[in-house]
Amino acid sequence: MIHSTITFTMIASMPRVLFLVALTVAMATATSGARSRQIHLRFYMHDITGGPGQTAVQLVKGPGPAHPFMPGAHFGDTTVIDDALTEGPSAASRAVGRAQGSYMLAGLKEPVLMVSMTVALTGGVYNGSTIAVVGRDDISAAVRELAVAGGTGAFRKATGHVLWRTARMVSRDHMVLELDVYATMPAAVAAPNGQRQSGVLNI
Ligand SMILES: *[C@@H]1O[C@H](CO)[C@@H](O)[C@H](O)[C@H]1NC(C)=O
Repeated sequence: MIHSTITFTMIASMPRVLFLVALTVAMATATSGARSRQIHLRFYMHDITGGPGQTAVQLVKGPGPAHPFMPGAHFGDTTVIDDALTEGPSAASRAVGRAQGSYMLAGLKEPVLMVSMTVALTGGVYNGSTIAVVGRDDISAAVRELAVAGGTGAFRKATGHVLWRTARMVSRDHMVLELDVYATMPAAVAAPNGQRQSGVLNI
């Protein structure tokens, strides 16, 4: 932005041929200068709905109707979560953040959850940054796609998507989910601390 403003101020006093050259250079500068940042993160989310170390608590037991394919579940069942995020699929691997929010059984007939959560990163260069994740989680699908609806810190003005898979079930109460976050931030948003954050990075 700054580059092209300066260039356009200069070209006002130039002959016509030079103007065209300068315009081409200015456009190239604007294009190369407008390099958005892309970040890919992979981490694992531990949704523990009972027992020791519980991180997911049902808030609302939906008054019904009963779900046709999910025994014991009711339309509107809502759970609040503060799930641990780890670098690897094991709960013992390095902690990278928390997934804080909720999911609600929003399918009358389909096993579909409406997820709304903030990924709060606590490790590595993204410590303190957050990513807002919202979307439809059809638990019968192998891979679900949710939206990156924004973020803070390194993820300010983020857009993108999350690929969401069930990695494994440790127990009936402990589900491990694998999340691949693909986020793009506009060039106008500076990376905190001048860090270079283009390309595909791990946390
Ligand atoms: C993350 O930031 C907090 C607050 O600044 C700090 O206390 C903590 O030690 C940091 N964690 C890591 C892993 O750098």
